[in-house]
Formats: sequence, structure tokens, C-alpha cells
Amino acid sequence: MGAGGIGTLLPNLAGAQNMTTTAPQIRASMTGGREPKPLPFDAAKLNGLSEKLIRSHWENNYIGSVKALNMISERMAVAMKDPDLPPVVYGGLKREELHRVGSVILHEHYFGNLGGDGKAAGDVLSAIKQAFGSYDAWETEFRRTAMALAGGSGWCVLTYNLYTYELRNQWAWDHMHGAIAGIPLLALDMYEHSFHMDFGATAAKYVDAFMRNVNWQEVDRRFQGVVIHTAG
Ligand SMILES: [Fe+2]
Repeated sequence: MGAGGIGTLLPNLAGAQNMTTTAPQIRASMTGGREPKPLPFDAAKLNGLSEKLIRSHWENNYIGSVKALNMISERMAVAMKDPDLPPVVYGGLKREELHRVGSVILHEHYFGNLGGDGKAAGDVLSAIKQAFGSYDAWETEFRRTAMALAGGSGWCVLTYNLYTYELRNQWAWDHMHGAIAGIPLLALDMYEHSFHMDFGATAAKYVDAFMRNVNWQEVDRRFQGVVIHTAG
């Protein structure tokens, strides 16, 4: 989808014409103190994803990354006070920073886009149809991209790119992969920790369960947010 495709959607965006924006508060990068976000749904009520799996994933992997990012951020600040620290040593901290920032962002999107009924709707559905021809064509490619990561690790992410104005299903084999300017709309964790407890190695059944629980209202909210920002 090019810019023209998005343009045809804009008149349908409720409130887009009159929306006023305020500059976000910029937080300090090299400090700790980040707080994990709570699960936005009742973990006991997902359809086919167990509470034990979701809580283990949220507590161990997501919160683990928030804590690690806080620790790395604090250590970078300390390291920068040492003028003799070799850059190659600092590079280890920067690599871990990139890894953990990606993990926190992607996990917050993942848990944020669960808890729904799996029924695609809204302007994002119209955009998907424009970009892929039909919802089914999009879902087929999304599932195939996800399954390309089965048995290993990574993320399958529907993104809207602020530079190319395209919707793409993005393949990412770790937390650090992703085309520059691709904003996540729908994130599917394909690391084994996200499904092995419930599904063993049968990743396809996990993807089925994920699709049944997608919160498309949240996906649409994300889409409207990024489109409005690129409309001006
Ligand atoms: Fe994960």
C-alpha cells in the first residue's frame, strides 16, 4: 500500500481531522526505574492459552527484560564516567541494551494485543485488505511467516512503516531485528517460551490459539495512532 492507499482511509478515521496532539514526555535513557506493565486481560480467561503459560511468559521473560534493561541502563551511566573504558567493553552493554529495549517493546505489544475475540475489524482491517488483497491473504502470509520461525526463536510482526507507508508482515529472528521505521501493530512471539508449556513443539496449534485471542480493537488503535501521525 502506498501513501495514496492510506489517504483513502483517512476520511474514515473518527476524529482524525480535529485531533490535537501534545508532545510526549521524553524520559531519560540511561537510568533505571522502568516499571513493567500489568497484563491487560484476565490470564485465566484466554481461549486455548493457559494461565500458567501466560503468567510464566509475562513474569519470567517480559519482567525479566524490564529488570535487565534497568540494570543495563544504570551500568551504562556508570561506565560513561570512566574515560578509560575501552569502547569494545562498552559495546557489550550497548548490544544488551538493544536486545532488552526490543524485548520490552515487543512483549508489551504482544500482551497488549491479546485478550480479544480474534475478529478483525476497524480501519486496520480496511488497510489490510488494501495492502494484501483480502484478510485471508494477509492471514495466510502472517501465519506462514510465523511458522518460518517455529522451532527456534523470533517474532512475527504486522508493521506499518512510517517511511514506506506499507503494511508488512515482518520476520524477526530476535528482539533486535526489524526494518527501521516499522511500527508494530500486531506482535506474535515465536520464541519457544511463548508456547512450549502448552503445545510442546506443535507451534501451529499455538498460532491457531493466538489468532483466536487477538484484540483487534487494540491493533486498530495502534494503526490509527501511526496513520494520524503520518497524515500531516
Ligand atoms: Fe517472549
